[in-house]
Amino acid sequence: MDNILIKHTKALIDGEMIPADIAIKDGIILSMDGAPEGFVPDTVIDGEGKLCMPGLVNAHTHAYMSLFRSYADDVAFDNWLFGRILPKEDTLTPEDAYWGTMLSCIEMIKTGTTAFCDMHLFAGIPAKAAHDAGMRAVITRGLTGSDGGERRIAEALDEWNEWKHDPLISGMLAPHAIYTCDEPFLHRVMEVADETGLGINIHLSESPKEIDDCYAAHGCSPVEYLAKMGMFRHKTLAAHCVHLSETDIMLLAEHGVSVAHNPKSNLKLANGIAPVKQMLDAGVNVCIGTDGAGSNNALNMFSEMNFACLLPKGINKEGDVVSAKEVIRMATVGGAKALGLQNVGELKAGMQADLAILDLGQVAFRPLHDIAGALCYAANGSEVETVIIGGEIVMQNGALTKIDEEEVYYHAERITKDW
Ligand code: NI
Repeated sequence: MDNILIKHTKALIDGEMIPADIAIKDGIILSMDGAPEGFVPDTVIDGEGKLCMPGLVNAHTHAYMSLFRSYADDVAFDNWLFGRILPKEDTLTPEDAYWGTMLSCIEMIKTGTTAFCDMHLFAGIPAKAAHDAGMRAVITRGLTGSDGGERRIAEALDEWNEWKHDPLISGMLAPHAIYTCDEPFLHRVMEVADETGLGINIHLSESPKEIDDCYAAHGCSPVEYLAKMGMFRHKTLAAHCVHLSETDIMLLAEHGVSVAHNPKSNLKLANGIAPVKQMLDAGVNVCIGTDGAGSNNALNMFSEMNFACLLPKGINKEGDVVSAKEVIRMATVGGAKALGLQNVGELKAGMQADLAILDLGQVAFRPLHDIAGALCYAANGSEVETVIIGGEIVMQNGALTKIDEEEVYYHAERITKDW
């Protein structure tokens, strides 16, 4: 692995721009202020006029779903899921899912995302795609409790065993949701979590229907239901958490549950707006995800950060809540913590070299009064030029180094051409 020196650059540290010369060795940031004695770079990047920021962490994806981009827009939820998505999803092969996941990797890298947490249906496929793309990934095989629940658990464990020694790949267990996993199956998943030490990735409190059904069946909210069951004794990442009572928020904070906020997916599927300000006030670790491209339609974290900044201001009618700096924190360190990624999410010596280099000459940064605000309210991800993950340059001046883009586009179009 090359030693890299990024010279005369600016680094984004705690939402501020700090002059830096970043030395990277063996995939780790060795120094933020120049090459230490004896350090010989193989690659020198001129960082003049550039911003180095921690790679963004997309905390909730279904990456194969990029094949569904713009396939089912502007329809009601039931029609979206049962009329459009599921019938086509049933036709996908593992190979199709691979190309869909690669398509997501292209979009994520191009917009500065270096790590993602994927809930998927095709054992082994996202891990292989992330590996081929050079991305850091937390792979979570979606588990449902109906026919084949044990087979899916076995697939999840096989996949985890196959990839656990890859420095960029890790895993969690992903019971899909409380409405697709019954209580015995959730207990079974917790048993596996006890045996393996794996964390839990679950969709939670996403739609009003989920809340109503949970009250009808269990007499409590989905968060209370899982809390009573003991689910939160495991490290848990809960996606969505749109509909929460004050008690729910307290329980999430008390149990250290991380919440993946997916603002655009929640809006597009008409599920509502998560109480992010209230969760942050209570001390919940909130991170940000895009969800799948069927419900977004992009995996662009800049767009997601924009919504994450704007929505709390609109719904709380307060302009000074959930700042750009806080949202950048959510999209970097917050995500890394939620995904259990060690030494990821910040630029400082000793951290993994996961970073995006942006061109400060782009219009979003002119004039540049405040870098955090510019990143969240003006930038759109097209400013990202170069991306480094675990010390590997995966995109250099806009060119992907590990993925043949045209090959991926060819397959994505081939797979979907008769839809
Ligand atoms: Ni999801």
